Amino acid sequence: MLDALCFWLETDLIMVKRKTTRRAFLKGSVAIGGAALTAGTSVKAGEGDPLITETQEWAQFTGDGVDATPYGMPIDFESDVVRRNVEWLTADTISSVNFTPIHALDGTITPQGCAFERNHSGAIELPKEDYRLMINGLVDRPLVFTYEDLERFPRENHVYFCECAANTGMEWAGAQLNGAQFTHGMIHNMEYTGIPLRTILNEAGLKSEGSWIFVEGADASSNGRSIPIEKALDDVFVAFKANGEALRKEHGYPVRLVVPGWEGNMWVKWLRRVEVTDQPIESREETSKYTDTLADGTSRKWTWVMDAKSVITSPSPQAPITHKSGPLVISGLAWSGHGAITRVDVTLDGGKNWFQARLAKPGERKALTRFYLDIDWNGKDMFLQSRAHDETGYVQPTKEQLRNVRGLNSIYHNNCIQTWWVKKGGEVENVEVS
Ligand code: MTE
Ligand code: CO
Repeated sequence: MLDALCFWLETDLIMVKRKTTRRAFLKGSVAIGGAALTAGTSVKAGEGDPLITETQEWAQFTGDGVDATPYGMPIDFESDVVRRNVEWLTADTISSVNFTPIHALDGTITPQGCAFERNHSGAIELPKEDYRLMINGLVDRPLVFTYEDLERFPRENHVYFCECAANTGMEWAGAQLNGAQFTHGMIHNMEYTGIPLRTILNEAGLKSEGSWIFVEGADASSNGRSIPIEKALDDVFVAFKANGEALRKEHGYPVRLVVPGWEGNMWVKWLRRVEVTDQPIESREETSKYTDTLADGTSRKWTWVMDAKSVITSPSPQAPITHKSGPLVISGLAWSGHGAITRVDVTLDGGKNWFQARLAKPGERKALTRFYLDIDWNGKDMFLQSRAHDETGYVQPTKEQLRNVRGLNSIYHNNCIQTWWVKKGGEVENVEVS
C-alpha cells in the first residue's frame, strides 16, 4: 500500500515537472534586465556534487520514532525564525512587546508560536476551570459563563489580522529599525474559532439604552476598553481557539476578544467582563493614551480602524538576496481594517514605475493577503516599495503624504509605504526616498 502511494507520488511529481515549461515561467515574470532566466543549476553544473552523487547520512540510518516529539516543534535549522524584542524599546520585558518574524514566513496564517505578543502586565496563566466571563450593566439578566458554557453556543470560524496601533510607530521621524520584523511585525493573522459576541449579549438581553460596551481582561492591567455597541453587535468575536488549537497563554488563553479590523489594543485577552453602558468609560489611563498627534499639534482620538497597509517581507534587511542576479520572487503582505485588499502595486525604482503584484488568493476581509511579484533581477540597486488598495478605493499613502497630515511626532497608526534599498550584492537596508 505504502509502495503504491510512493509510486503514485513520484509519477505525479514527474507530471508536474513537465507542465511547468520555461515559457510559462517567463510569461508570469517581469524582466528588468537582460539576465538569463534560469532558476535551477543545470545537471552538468551539478556534476561532482556529493549531495547528488553520494548517499547521504540521512539515507543510511533510520530517523526519529513517532514518539520523539509528542508536540512538534520547528526543526533546529529554522531556530532563527522566532519572535524577537527590541531591548531599548521598553524598560522591562513585562510591559513590553515582541515582533512576528514576518520576513521569514510565507502564506498568510501566523503560527501561534511566532505571533507577536503585547502585554501591559505580562502573560498570565489562567486555568480553563477557573475561567469566568461576566456580562453585566445595561442588560435584562446579568450572566456569568464558564468555559464549558461558551462551548455550547453555535460556533464559527474566521480569519482576521490583529495589528497593534503602535506597529511601524518608530518610523515616523525617519527610517530606524533595520528589519521588516521590527518595522511591521506587530501583526498576526489567525483562524479563530469561537462565538459572535452578539450571541451572548442577546442571551443576557440588551437594554435599549445600551450604546457602548466596556470590556476588560483578567490580568493585572485589565486593559479596559470601550467599544460602540454597533461594532459589538457586528463582527466582534469571542475566540477560544486559534489556528485549530487552544489559544496560547500569551494570546489570552483560554478566551480572548477579537475585534476585526480594529487596533490590537481593543482585542482584550483573558476576557473576563463585558459591561453594557450608555457611554464610553474613559477613566482608565490606557483608553485615552491611544490618540494620534496631528501636524498642527492637536490630537485625534478613537481612530480604531486600521487603514490599508502593506510591506515587502522578502527581500528585506533580514532576508537579503543570496544570488547575484536572475529570477527573484518579491513577496509581501497587505491588509485593511476596512475590508478586503483588491490590489497591490510594487515598484523597483522608488515609485517611478509600478507593477501590479499577483495576489496569492483573492483578498479576504480584515485578513492578511499575500502578494508576489516575480522578476528577473539584473543584479543592480533597487528601491522596493509596495502600495495596497482596498475595497473602499483607499490607496496606501506615501510617508510624505502621511507626515503632511500627522507630522513627525505621532506614534500610532503609521500605515505609510515602506522603502527597502536593495544593494548590488543583495544586502537590503531600511531607507526613505523623496
Ligand atoms: N489584553 C489584556 N488583557 N492585556 C493586555 O496587555 N494588550 C493589548 C491587546 N489586549 C493587552 C490585551 C494590545 S496593546 C495588543 S496590540 C494586543 O492585545 C496584542 O495581542 P497579542 O499579544 O495576541 O499579539
Ligand atoms: Co497594541
